[in-house]
Amino acid sequence: MPEISRRAALKALGLATASAVAGGAVATAAFHSQEQAQAPGASPTAPAQATATAVPAATATPQPTATTAPAPAVELFPFEGIHQAGVITDPPQAVLMVALQVLGEKPDDLVKLMQILTARTREMMAGQIGVASAEDERFPPHNTGDLGYDPLTEGRLSIMLGLGSSLFTLDGKDRFGLASKKPIALKPMPRDLVGDRLAGSTMLDGDIFLQISSDHPLVNMHAFRDILKNTKGMVSPVWVQPGFQRYFQNTQPGEAKARGLLGFKDGTANLDTKDADLMAKLVWTGSEEPTWAQGGTYVAVRIIREQIERWDRLNLSQQEASIGRVKTTGAVLGNTTETALPSYADDPDGKIVPLNSHIRKANPRLGEESDKRRMLRRGFLYDNGIDKSGLLDAGFLFQGFCRNIEEQFEFVKRNYMSNRHFPKQNTGVQDLDEYIFCIGGGYFFVPAGVKKEDRFVADTLLLG
Ligand code: HEM
Repeated sequence: MPEISRRAALKALGLATASAVAGGAVATAAFHSQEQAQAPGASPTAPAQATATAVPAATATPQPTATTAPAPAVELFPFEGIHQAGVITDPPQAVLMVALQVLGEKPDDLVKLMQILTARTREMMAGQIGVASAEDERFPPHNTGDLGYDPLTEGRLSIMLGLGSSLFTLDGKDRFGLASKKPIALKPMPRDLVGDRLAGSTMLDGDIFLQISSDHPLVNMHAFRDILKNTKGMVSPVWVQPGFQRYFQNTQPGEAKARGLLGFKDGTANLDTKDADLMAKLVWTGSEEPTWAQGGTYVAVRIIREQIERWDRLNLSQQEASIGRVKTTGAVLGNTTETALPSYADDPDGKIVPLNSHIRKANPRLGEESDKRRMLRRGFLYDNGIDKSGLLDAGFLFQGFCRNIEEQFEFVKRNYMSNRHFPKQNTGVQDLDEYIFCIGGGYFFVPAGVKKEDRFVADTLLLG
């Protein structure tokens, strides 16, 4: 655990009585998978989610063995809140993206599935791994055992759930009687976006998308395994992609906390998640959506392969011209400070920041016209080894969170980045497209958070 979290955790020892009691409540509510199918389960009373809270592990669950050493603190994101965790919560170091196909055919099947997914998410996000009561040998063990038998010591797990358009309509059929309630901009990810190589892709779409993220791949794997165990016969995985990131500790406000595999700082000009007005304007859905879909968000998930060997043979100024920023500092070309804003109006021909550079294409800074297109980026990196040619099979797991996916992500992609005549005649597509191509992903709608113990994700959609 990073030093900062440990300090926060120690401080919280004196303050977190309510959380600790709540954690204990969850522990005593641990139950068998068969029983979980009947009930969504008990949960901690958590504050509206924003940042992780720290609770002492020793009080979060009964310990199977006595120990005199102080127990490590567990850092948790509250499950309950206005919005689901995993959108504006600080991104942890590892992700497991999972797309599921729903096997059930009746509305009740979907209700039961969402109740189980909610119950498992609620319990695992509370740091529990299912060891509270005695085992019954007629059933599989409570705990898969892959994380041992302590509460989760690598914290900050969140499981964010999104809905694909195929859950509402598939091949023209209203699968669960939900077609009329579909979010206004939800549809399958378009197959005609310039530069994409989706033909034959097995990594596309899905009825349900899970962004399982925590500070360790094993925790993510545990969560996925637990979900599969508890939803047997109800879902089938369509595609799964692990990813990772490393964050710098000592950054100033506004500076990026990470770098991508192309070597550039990632996150410099991202939206400020602490700016509630900005989030309300650009990320969270509002009155334009059906009532059940308000307070949610859309996410464009794009699995983007990077042609790293080609990129690594470019000289430094070619790389910097392609992105539009200085590689070491992250500053916009022509500037020395990472947080300084570009001034494209003073550089109309792109002599300083090329017109086809990534940042100028992604956000041309045209005032309100392009400000309203911005999105919250929450990306991870991936490394799938090598392909059949021996080339690195690695890249970027892009996630763009938008209040309206067509007006933001898709508009930017089609009308700015891939438009050969933007911002000027014959500019060409963005230069970066020579080194990247999208191989999969999907569009998903992320419902609002679960606000009370007896509620489950998307219940207002499913129960009316
Ligand atoms: C492999 C793919 C990608 C790479 C390597 C990449 C890399 C970068 C880098 C290095 C920056 C500058 C630092 C920062 O502000 O975070 C940036 C900014 C940005 N990227 Fe990407 N990006 C990728 C894909 C995308 C996609 C698919 C979109 C959305 C359509 C996107 C939208 C943006 C936006 C909006 C900015 C901020 C521009 C600004 O406001 O100045 N990026 N990206």
